[in-house]
Amino acid sequence: MPTSDVPVLRATALTKRYRLGDLTIEALKGVDLTVEAGEFLAVMGPSGSGKSTLLHLLGLLDLPDAGGVEVAGEATAEMDDDALTALRRTKLGFLFQSFELIPNLTARENILLPAEIAGRGGPAADRLRELAAQLAIVDRLGHRPRQLSGGQRQRVALARALINDPLVVLADEPTGNLDTHTGSEVLDLLRNGVDTFWWTVVMVTHDPNAAMHADRIVFLRDGQISGETGTRMSNARDIIERLVGV
Ligand SMILES: Nc1ncnc2c1ncn2[C@@H]1O[C@H](COP(=O)(O)OP(=O)(O)OP(=O)(O)O)[C@@H](O)[C@H]1O
Ligand SMILES: [Mg+2]
Repeated sequence: MPTSDVPVLRATALTKRYRLGDLTIEALKGVDLTVEAGEFLAVMGPSGSGKSTLLHLLGLLDLPDAGGVEVAGEATAEMDDDALTALRRTKLGFLFQSFELIPNLTARENILLPAEIAGRGGPAADRLRELAAQLAIVDRLGHRPRQLSGGQRQRVALARALINDPLVVLADEPTGNLDTHTGSEVLDLLRNGVDTFWWTVVMVTHDPNAAMHADRIVFLRDGQISGETGTRMSNARDIIERLVGV
């Protein structure tokens, strides 16, 4: 188990504005957030509250207008595009609601793609075997995405997110396109990965049951953090209801 006290991610006063013609939308208004190694963090909030924007900025997919993101203690604000891309490819894993698998590649090829892009094709073969067993997709590696069920697609996407052994997996509504049963299988895999393999996960979700798989929930409203709760608190569900009204 890593013993480092340095948070995996630290966002400080994160601010993001979108300009649409004359209109400026303040999507994030000074968000402070720390994600510790080995933590499973859920982000909840109403539609438009800034959840995806926050995840994009944490994932170095977009740049803030003010404030900054540190990855494993390293400030990213002054980095050029190449450095940001390298950090994103090697340290961050992404999971999307719509899986985003490449249709004409097999599951195996989809999973290995980030490793090849990062020039890590060799060690990835062992990692692939390990992940395929953990995620129960060993006998599906030769299938193309259209030959897989939704749950299998998301498990393949999760293996792809983990192939480079990232510091953190950033997931935007990973169960949003899955039925309740299949979604809960994916959530159990995430929970188990955090407990057993020391994965670190940040997951945006609308679903209180999904959020309850995490260790901690932070709530966004109008681009600001409006509260947080540990999921083991006896009143966690009341807090979810109060802060997101579900
Ligand atoms: N590319 C963009 N251009 C302009 N405005 C944007 C853009 N992306 C997001 N926004 C606006 O920023 C605000 C936050 O959007 P964001 O997508 O982060 O919300 P969200 O919490 O993820 O919502 P949802 O639950 O519906 O996915 C919204 O008002 C949205 O309309
Ligand atoms: Mg969103």
